[in-house]
Amino acid sequence: MKIAVIGTGYVGLVTGTCLAETGNDVICVDINEAKVKQMKAGEVPIYEPGLDLLFHRNIEQERLTFTTNLADAVKEAQIIFMALPTPPGGDGAADLSYILGAAKDISKLITEYKVIVNKSTVPVGTADKVKAVFAENTSIEVDVVSNPEFLREGVAVDDFMKPDRVVLGTKSERAKKLMTELYGPYVRQGNPILFMDERSSELTKYAANSFLATKITFMNEIANLCELVGADVDSVRRGIGSDDRIGKRFLFPGVGYGGSCFPKDVQALVKSSDDYAYDFQILKSVMEVNERQKTILVDKVLKYYKGDIKGKHFALWGLAFKPETDDIREAPALYIIDALVKNGATVTVFDPEAMTNVKNVIGDQVNYAKNQYEALEGADALLIATEWSVFRNPDFEKIDNILKNKVVFDGRNLYDLQKMIDLGYYYNSIGRKLID
Ligand code: UDX
Repeated sequence: MKIAVIGTGYVGLVTGTCLAETGNDVICVDINEAKVKQMKAGEVPIYEPGLDLLFHRNIEQERLTFTTNLADAVKEAQIIFMALPTPPGGDGAADLSYILGAAKDISKLITEYKVIVNKSTVPVGTADKVKAVFAENTSIEVDVVSNPEFLREGVAVDDFMKPDRVVLGTKSERAKKLMTELYGPYVRQGNPILFMDERSSELTKYAANSFLATKITFMNEIANLCELVGADVDSVRRGIGSDDRIGKRFLFPGVGYGGSCFPKDVQALVKSSDDYAYDFQILKSVMEVNERQKTILVDKVLKYYKGDIKGKHFALWGLAFKPETDDIREAPALYIIDALVKNGATVTVFDPEAMTNVKNVIGDQVNYAKNQYEALEGADALLIATEWSVFRNPDFEKIDNILKNKVVFDGRNLYDLQKMIDLGYYYNSIGRKLID
């Protein structure tokens, strides 16, 4: 099939590349000329494991092309995906100007029936707004489909190629047929394509992310309580996770959720609810608790140093909001750095992928180490904010030799408690016994 993808951000690029992989002709459009040039030269503009291989293969076999010219892309395409940003506006509501602007541009270019698919995360009612834009500007028939993405950064290619489900919001039989044909190869293993109305599809995305954010936040609160009552969160997690109704996943406490989706989507759903005069109390609490959780490690540090960390120096391992990405949007590490620096401490950081991004945002507020051990030089204690695999089994003898004191604050519960006792560390993690 002939596909156009408007917007080559994270979602657009993964979508375009993965759609080409099953034999479709995909043309990706972006207004950023430098980026299009870069992609034409075979350079993937984002860090996403497994994407390079597919990207290069499909460019080489001429199924994946790039342009800045919307008209070229729209002309041949049977299905046009919109994967455009929906940043939170001043009032927390998603800003739809990119989507509605693109819809208007497309409406002026089309000469025959098209399916317009919205991949961006958008408030309920957006499909209707997009339909209205087309109705205003053209008499050509179009179907507007809501098709939320459920891609996790770091495993997005796998999530696209083998989705748990494909959600498609449309009542048009013609669009359903085309979309079923397009997604057929991705659900061969028997996972469902779920057709529903547009509004339900739009809400599904927010509901899924908000539910997961709530699940994590609930566990973070259980972890905080575990510390107070002398329980162990790993045991509680296993104890509840074995119940199928609860499930084992997304029950890992830590320094709060971050990233480009959860914080934004929870906020947007609260805003949408407010617009309908519905007080979504649980989500308001989730937002509040998550804010607090992001600096819980600093609270622990301050307690350890009796409220005074002026002149102290800390090593921080992990900057990305989670492993296998260089994304630092809403990353807890940034909040941790901010709080440490505000309290008069200095920090040296290391992350396997996110160093450049952090440098671009906070510059010389911290020192940057070449590797995880260099970060420990002259540090009073080690803090961990992201569970990268390289941090999971470090050389503790080396750590001991470089770090001034055997003191670790672990925001991701990476180490076995007995091991830390045996090694003689002060070890403060989340929801587990304090080793001191
Ligand atoms: C998420 C959704 O999973 C995905 O379906 C959606 O399309 C986009 O948002 P992503 O933001 O890439 O994906 O990250 P995810 O792996 O879901 O993690 C989100 C946050 O939750 C991270 O900050 C992570 O550290 C945190 N988390 C996750 C926990 O703190 N504990 C857990 O048990 C799981």
